[in-house]
Amino acid sequence: MEASTAIVIFGVTGDLTSRKLIPALQHLYSIERLPLPFYIFGFARRDWNDQVLRQHLTQSIRGRKKDGEGAIPSLLERCFYIQSDFRDREGYHRLKQELLRYEMVNVLYYFAAPPDAYIDILEGIRVAGLNRGFPGWIRVVIEKPYGRDLQSAMVLDEKVHEVFVEEQVFRIDHYLGKETVQNILVFRFANGIFEPLWDRRYVDHVQILMAETSGVGSRAGYYEQAGVIRDIFQNHLMQLLTLTAMEAPVSFTADAVRDEKIKVLQALRPLKGRDAIRDTFRGQYVSGVIDGERVVGYKDEKGVALNSTTETFLAVRLFIDNWRWAGVPFYIRSGKRLPKNVTEIAIQYKQVPLSLFGWRNMAGEAPNRLILRIQPDEGITLTFGAKAPGPINQIAPVNMHFDYVSTFGTEPPEAYERLLLDVMMGDATLFTRADEVKAAWKFTTDILEAWEQAGVANLPVYEAGTWGPSGVDEFIQRDGRKWRIP
Ligand code: BG6
Repeated sequence: MEASTAIVIFGVTGDLTSRKLIPALQHLYSIERLPLPFYIFGFARRDWNDQVLRQHLTQSIRGRKKDGEGAIPSLLERCFYIQSDFRDREGYHRLKQELLRYEMVNVLYYFAAPPDAYIDILEGIRVAGLNRGFPGWIRVVIEKPYGRDLQSAMVLDEKVHEVFVEEQVFRIDHYLGKETVQNILVFRFANGIFEPLWDRRYVDHVQILMAETSGVGSRAGYYEQAGVIRDIFQNHLMQLLTLTAMEAPVSFTADAVRDEKIKVLQALRPLKGRDAIRDTFRGQYVSGVIDGERVVGYKDEKGVALNSTTETFLAVRLFIDNWRWAGVPFYIRSGKRLPKNVTEIAIQYKQVPLSLFGWRNMAGEAPNRLILRIQPDEGITLTFGAKAPGPINQIAPVNMHFDYVSTFGTEPPEAYERLLLDVMMGDATLFTRADEVKAAWKFTTDILEAWEQAGVANLPVYEAGTWGPSGVDEFIQRDGRKWRIP
């Protein structure tokens, strides 16, 4: 790919740029996957200049073993800073001049700024004519959260479409860039043996878990307004759910895959009013111990209100009312400051119809479970019962493992690398389409409204380093099931 290409990062001074974008760009550059010459234009409010930006970006890549340090200076040579408020039109004109001065062919706008600035940025782009006038492609990547409820997502989307056409828009959910998430569809549809067992006749229930040991860190300002429901549930968890539950697409093209995903969202049984209260469970962490160290409670994090009712833990039970999944509960769980970093999808199969062996079942009630280990320790585990050796007749649970690293001899690549490449290639398969985001918001907004109406009297709390508030066990036990502890 030989053409002057620029990535313009709005909000370049933020955490996402240094943690994810720059390391990904740096690695792509070092393995010669970026179009050349490649430029980075940073746009943000802070009083930085090109030099300061370069220093910050250098720090964010230094110490990463896999990239030759030699590649850093040459990427950063073509890296420029535009200091401007997001509302200031003049900043966008300056940006345009710079892009023209360096004779840019392709331009990629990346929205890594606070989401409440998105509308202003779009307006700035429109007014300065940054959405036209380059000979190659012009694309835009928009980070989550895409709106904060159905209504605001629709307003945002309207504005996006005033400035860009849908083919230019890449709504990013970085979970879709993870190899193990992409493998969900390969596992399901490239193998003949699992798909026939993937429905209400065989599956008892599904658990999707995304647990993190970290707290809110320096992002309290954002998190206070988001909570797990907007930060994780509406996007990452909904994506894992749709990939787990969708039908086979007619082809692996962007629209065919997304057409099937959206059908799952449309089939979700709405959770409104009392149903939403019954089928969701929220909590907030208080001080506790993580990896042997005491950490502060959520309310003591910098930037969190003392009377905050933002949930840092959420469990949801939901149903997909379609032919394949009718009656099968999906239990979704996520939280900050849980004991482990782990994301997994566990398909729990039904018990055998008749116990032929009057033996002691050490495997528990129903031994068959398939676990898609999204991260870390990427892979897949199938659990089944086997005769434990010895004269006493006992059935023990045993595992069959697929392990990504030992099989392929390499760690899965960073999600952002794959996604940035796809944007540059113009492939939107791993990005969310407008109707998909809206359908996810529709379901989520019903829950948010129910919560708002009911108010929060006593938000259950859990100690950091535990698997959530004690009441969450009862939440699933009332269905005669229990949470899987990975
Ligand atoms: C982000 C959330 O989208 O995903 C964060 O805003 C969360 O709160 C992060 O920590 C988790 O991503 P990953 O790739 O580390 O699982």
